[in-house]
Amino acid sequence: MNRKWWQDKVAYQIYPKSFNDSNNDGIGDIPGIIEKLDYLKNLGVDIVWISPCYPSPFADQGYDISDYYNIHPVFGTLEDMDRLLAEAKKRNMYIILDLVVNHCSDEHEWFKKACQDPDGKYGNFFYIEDRKEGELPCNWRSYFGGSVWEPLPGHPDKQYLHVFHKKQPDLNWENPEVREEVYKNINWWLDRGVSGFRIDAIINIKKKLPFKDYPVDRSDGLSSIRYMLEDAEGVGEFLSEMRDRTFAPHNAFSVGEVFNEKDDELPDFIGDNGYFSSMFDFSTEVFGGSDKGWYDQAPITPDDYKKCCFNSQKRVSNVGFLSNIIENHDEPRGVCRYIPEGDLSLHSKKLLATVYFMLKGLPFIYQGQEIGMENLSFQSIDQIDDVSTIDQYHVALDAGFSEKEALACVSRYSRDNARTPVQWDSSVNAGFSEGTPWLPVNPNYTEINVASQINVPESLLSYYKKLIALRKDPVYKETIVYGELIPYLEDRHNLMAYYRKGEKTLLVLGNFQKETQTVKLPATYKKILLNNYAELRVIDGSVILDDYQAVILEL
Ligand code: NOJ
Repeated sequence: MNRKWWQDKVAYQIYPKSFNDSNNDGIGDIPGIIEKLDYLKNLGVDIVWISPCYPSPFADQGYDISDYYNIHPVFGTLEDMDRLLAEAKKRNMYIILDLVVNHCSDEHEWFKKACQDPDGKYGNFFYIEDRKEGELPCNWRSYFGGSVWEPLPGHPDKQYLHVFHKKQPDLNWENPEVREEVYKNINWWLDRGVSGFRIDAIINIKKKLPFKDYPVDRSDGLSSIRYMLEDAEGVGEFLSEMRDRTFAPHNAFSVGEVFNEKDDELPDFIGDNGYFSSMFDFSTEVFGGSDKGWYDQAPITPDDYKKCCFNSQKRVSNVGFLSNIIENHDEPRGVCRYIPEGDLSLHSKKLLATVYFMLKGLPFIYQGQEIGMENLSFQSIDQIDDVSTIDQYHVALDAGFSEKEALACVSRYSRDNARTPVQWDSSVNAGFSEGTPWLPVNPNYTEINVASQINVPESLLSYYKKLIALRKDPVYKETIVYGELIPYLEDRHNLMAYYRKGEKTLLVLGNFQKETQTVKLPATYKKILLNNYAELRVIDGSVILDDYQAVILEL
């Protein structure tokens, strides 16, 4: 594996609507991000990924872009973005943006022109098919529910494809003119000073053509897109072209939102000359998923969590670098998902931080994770903004659940859990905004907030800072960034333990339960590098790990 500039870094995701509101309109913005750059720098963050901040009607909260060359006025201006890039550079930080090019918005001028003249140049930017009563070109279900086909505005005899929301028409990547437009845009941003991109929903750009049906898997008579994606071949041609025309010549960092890749494709995706620098490991997020819907998703136990992480590490081995997360803007809060209900505490939050952050790969922290932000307790479906949660609520109702039960099912996985405003302090609206926040602030902000943790040595925030500092410590960096990961006592119930072996040998131990657990050390340790308790009990070569105790030892 070749060494790259971004591998020893720490990344942080900003969901701009909910990060920091500088003008008190209830929505976070770019000047708000600039205000917090020193906070991020102080935490030890190097790379900042900003979810879409381009003009958008917000049907899918910015993942429906109506202009790829501008900034949405609620977030600021292009000048604000330039200022952010310059301020980041001053601090040796890197800004990466979100690249959303499987689809655009139906309010993008390309789509408007396609509607004006479906047989003209822009008609071919999309998938537009003739429409016959009672017949669809294929039975795929969109990710947000319902058919992927929607009548083309102004043309009742035609329909267009959208694998996400109907306001997100899919771009036709088979058309070289579309690809040229995408590359032009990527290079425009890279030339402006952006250091790379997080690449949205990218596997979907390759459709299996001609359109055909796949097995019906729900009572709606439709079929999960998953079957089509498994069948589609040739996405690599598009992705390697994109890499060669954009990221590679700029030495840019790219991290793919990749699902469904096959084992033998890993080197193509993230090997030395992969399509992307890295890709997210979603193995713990997709665990327990069901084609039936969220209501049928199985919860994940600590042992499952460990298995998922270790399997990913084994799969990727030395092929490339995964990007490790416990949450993002599409997932509930990691501490509420991976720590069994009833066990949530400062110790368990620190344990989760330790075991994921020390995995091999590039750690990403999602905004608010560093202070242990938690899921929101939704009282009614009307409190939910997210399109996919609303769809899943109806899926649960259709499956026979009561309104109360359906709300409980979707609350557990709702994307809005992670989208509530960042809790900066205990003042009104958690210091996020003096206006009315676009999504409710979690009422626990009076206890969980940055101000109450920032100068407190025992806080979760200080713990994250220590984890980051350890990754950057010149003595341990080589081992933590490039060292091998070898599981230790892999089958031990509720223990997540592994070595990181390189110049040094480190042992990460996490007691994923409230009950104490005795673990035999494979060798005497030289030093405790991090401990979420004040002490470590050692008797006869064994450590006695307390309730959710996590330690990093140098052997
Ligand atoms: C993945 C993004 O993370 C998600 O928020 C969005 O809804 C879909 N892709 C569609 O762009």
